[in-house]
Amino acid sequence: MTHLTSFLQTLLFELRSSSARTRLRYASTRVRVDPSARVSMRAVLDAVHGGTITIGPNVLISRGARILTHGGDVEIGADVSINDLAILYGHGGLRIGRGTRIAAQALFIPSNHVFADPDVLIKDQGETSEGIDIGEDVWVGAGATILDGVRIGRGAVVAAGAVVVRSVEPYTVVGGVPARVISHRGPA
Ligand SMILES: CC(C)(COP(=O)(O)OP(=O)(O)OC[C@H]1O[C@@H](n2cnc3c(N)ncnc32)[C@H](O)[C@@H]1OP(=O)(O)O)[C@@H](O)C(=O)NCCC(=O)NCCS
Repeated sequence: MTHLTSFLQTLLFELRSSSARTRLRYASTRVRVDPSARVSMRAVLDAVHGGTITIGPNVLISRGARILTHGGDVEIGADVSINDLAILYGHGGLRIGRGTRIAAQALFIPSNHVFADPDVLIKDQGETSEGIDIGEDVWVGAGATILDGVRIGRGAVVAAGAVVVRSVEPYTVVGGVPARVISHRGPA
């Protein structure tokens, strides 16, 4: 048996068994995983603190990825892939459109602490949460961070390591901290 065959068989086993385990472990009205989705046993889908998680058809969620609702609703569209160690919080709502690619260690945080009053502990000032909306066919690069209130248009690309603080137009490529437009997709 070649190394590649062995690797593929191990991978298939892990994905199949983990899907079943995930459905058992999280069988509740709060977490719905389409039967065709493949969720690593080492991924975490956590709706313990309220909210819901909906995983669409043919979604792939890799090892160490974490989806944590924190009271909000997380909706992952069909054919989305979420790679190793990506973290998706749900606070104010998070929607990922069909076919979108999320690279390793990407981070989605639809929430901010209120910190206006310097005389009150930040932890006691509450939070704001507008939500995050990622369109279809978006590519979020490795280690990118998407902050609250951001809408990313269809077909956009977020460069590795970007911190996205403002919404992104469709088919644009953004990068840097804070993220700015670095190019556009399509004919020049
Ligand atoms: C953004 C990316 C896709 C390249 O897009 P591109 O449109 O071909 O960009 P270019 O390479 O032509 O670079 C255009 C400009 O953006 C800058 N740039 C490219 N990647 C950048 C990044 N990650 N952060 C900040 N700036 C970046 C370049 O330095 C260049 O700047 P300049 O014009 O001042 O020289 C690529 O750099 C990238 O980040 N890929 C993500 C890889 C990844 O995460 N893979 C995970 C596997 S799923």
